Amino acid sequence: MSEVVHFTRQGPVGIITVDYPPVNALGPGVREGILEAVDRGVADTQVRAMVLIGAGRSFIAGADIRGFGKGRPTVTRRTHDVLEASPKPVVAAIHGYALGGGLENALGCHYRIAVPGARVGLPEVLIGILPGGGGTQRLPRLIGPEAALEMIVSGRHVPAPEALELGILDELVEGGELRDAAVAFAMRVMDEPVLPRISERGIPDHDPGIFDAIRRRIARRARNQKAPWHCIRCVEIACSTPFEDGIRQERALFEELENSEEAKALRYAFFSEREAQRSPHVSRGTPARPVAAAAVVGAGTMGGGIAMTCADAGLPVKIMDKDPETLARGMERIGKTYAASVERGSLDAAGMAARLALIEPVDSYDAIAGADVAIEAVFEETGVKREVFETLDRVMKPGALLLTNTSALDIDEIAAATGRPEDVAGAHFFSPANVMKLLEIVRGERTSEEVLASVQALAKRLAKVGVVCGNCDGFVANRSRAPFNTEMVLLLEEGALPEQVDKAMVEFGYPMGPFAVGDLAGLDIGYAGRKRREAADPAVRPLPIADALVGMGRLGMKTGAGWYRYEAGSRTPHPDPEVAALIRRVSDESGAGRRDFDDEEIVQRLLFSSVNEACRIIEEGIARRAVEVDTMWLYGFGFPRYRGGLMYWADTVGVREVYGRIAAWHQRYGERWAPSPLLRRLAERGAPLTEAMTDM
Ligand code: CAA
Repeated sequence: MSEVVHFTRQGPVGIITVDYPPVNALGPGVREGILEAVDRGVADTQVRAMVLIGAGRSFIAGADIRGFGKGRPTVTRRTHDVLEASPKPVVAAIHGYALGGGLENALGCHYRIAVPGARVGLPEVLIGILPGGGGTQRLPRLIGPEAALEMIVSGRHVPAPEALELGILDELVEGGELRDAAVAFAMRVMDEPVLPRISERGIPDHDPGIFDAIRRRIARRARNQKAPWHCIRCVEIACSTPFEDGIRQERALFEELENSEEAKALRYAFFSEREAQRSPHVSRGTPARPVAAAAVVGAGTMGGGIAMTCADAGLPVKIMDKDPETLARGMERIGKTYAASVERGSLDAAGMAARLALIEPVDSYDAIAGADVAIEAVFEETGVKREVFETLDRVMKPGALLLTNTSALDIDEIAAATGRPEDVAGAHFFSPANVMKLLEIVRGERTSEEVLASVQALAKRLAKVGVVCGNCDGFVANRSRAPFNTEMVLLLEEGALPEQVDKAMVEFGYPMGPFAVGDLAGLDIGYAGRKRREAADPAVRPLPIADALVGMGRLGMKTGAGWYRYEAGSRTPHPDPEVAALIRRVSDESGAGRRDFDDEEIVQRLLFSSVNEACRIIEEGIARRAVEVDTMWLYGFGFPRYRGGLMYWADTVGVREVYGRIAAWHQRYGERWAPSPLLRRLAERGAPLTEAMTDM
């Protein structure tokens, strides 16, 4: 019998257990093992029903993603078909996850039961493919095409109680052992004269307009991608074609996607984000300090967002501000943000009340002294932050994690205000903190490994992607992004307009253009950082257009005008002739003249400048590997996931091409484009940027 699939018998019930840690992906030997076990159960005259179950923490998390794109043997017997064809009933018993090929096998079974905490889904679209194991043909027959479309096109993991309501599950197992419940269920159904086979069902009645409706709905989000469209096509096929033919067409469309550029990039993103969360600075197994209560210092926008993040994760949090007005305004903002979620339907009233109950406003340091973690989110100025840390050092209990939410300041200087610098680290949240998933964890000179491990664990608990990096101005995320921010404004001096740059970046795949994002965040934010860098380094190129806008009081959406103008109550950016005139005036004054840009040059100017800086960051050891940069760009800056990440994307252009361009711009524009030595070495060797590492 296979090593990864076991067959045992309990009375008349044969039990097929998949045992391939950690998540029972359909790795080498698993499919073969399932086939062998079903054959054995069918042949064994003492067996009258079977149970398919997973060992360890999950049912089956899907195909083994590592095996994709590596060629596969021709399969003559497919597990879901063989399960379904069994003349003896098979019950899928689900805990943990039944995803992708996992759910498809469960759909091949005649019955499905699950524990309430289980989740099921067809998330293939998230890795650029489609459910190629009959999922697009069976699910619409089981739950109707509309619900199936929603699940397949979103890829979301559906909680078991909802799956029961949708009709995916036959029963929830509320108490006791899942395995025992599955055996009991199997004994109940083993004498049923007719087995329910999903492939034999007709398609439930539906509105034929659902396909075009969903195409319209995803048009913007799914531009440049193939998988979501192929998913819709497959469900449409299920509604108009006999099952066997549908399966053939599903297979053909799956094969078209498996090695597409988007599928490769999404697979890279899947594994690199997991790799990036393991830091070379933290040994495996380093214990994390328990965190049962949190405190946030500062009730501004960031502090409020961080407090909400804690509450969203069920972590009690005190939000501290000495200024009663700021505290009251902060709490009001939190209340309004939750109320907006309730209005949108993403949160219910009870959920909002539960979260608000976890956030306690307090006005003194003494009130937070017992917290396990204090996250400082006060004004971005070293002196102000040092004062906070002096006080935290005095009041916080020994062993508390002392974290600063700075986006650029020197962690060591802040830590030096305390007598316990080993407990201090940076925890850079991205705005809005309760939405953006990146947490940049900054390691100071003296930060202990245990504290880093604790912040990594905290990030997981807060549903953030925590990436450890070193200490320098702007750390990894903002430092690698800074040249992009410079180039986008310099493009204007040379001949482009904000709306043209934004259009090129949106076509590339960003949800919003960078100028529109600037207006949303507030132009005073970038201005302050820029002035600090200009003061520190005379080589930093001033940006007269951006400075002039701030001088005119055009601070973005909040003032009704920034790079664009906004009509009262609307968030729609309108190109503004006043801005165009300012741009032309500065261009004329610079004497550089104006020229035309195409989209490719715009995209490359912005992104190559960041690739070059990222290479420097890796060379200096601030980031250790390209996966860290890529993960930060995906989760901190909305870089399109189907392009893998900044460095992955640059590899699709080619390291030599990237280097050649940068070298040419160095000649043309001067020092700010000086190629990083690491980039040069990679280009000479023709080695991919995704393999860039410190010390290479
Ligand atoms: N293939 C290979 N490895 C996988 C995997 C898969 N499908 N799913 C998870 N893993 C690995 C992860 O890489 C990770 O490995 P490391 O510890 O070495 O990093 C380990 O399993 C644990 O995973 P997570 O850290 O992600 O654990 P989690 O508990 O946070 O999440 C999960 C578990 C929800 C299953 C998540 O891993 C996940 O979403 N996995 C992908 C599921 C998926 O996309 N399935 C569909 C595959 S495609 C398919 O099935 C198509 C088909 O048949 C035709």
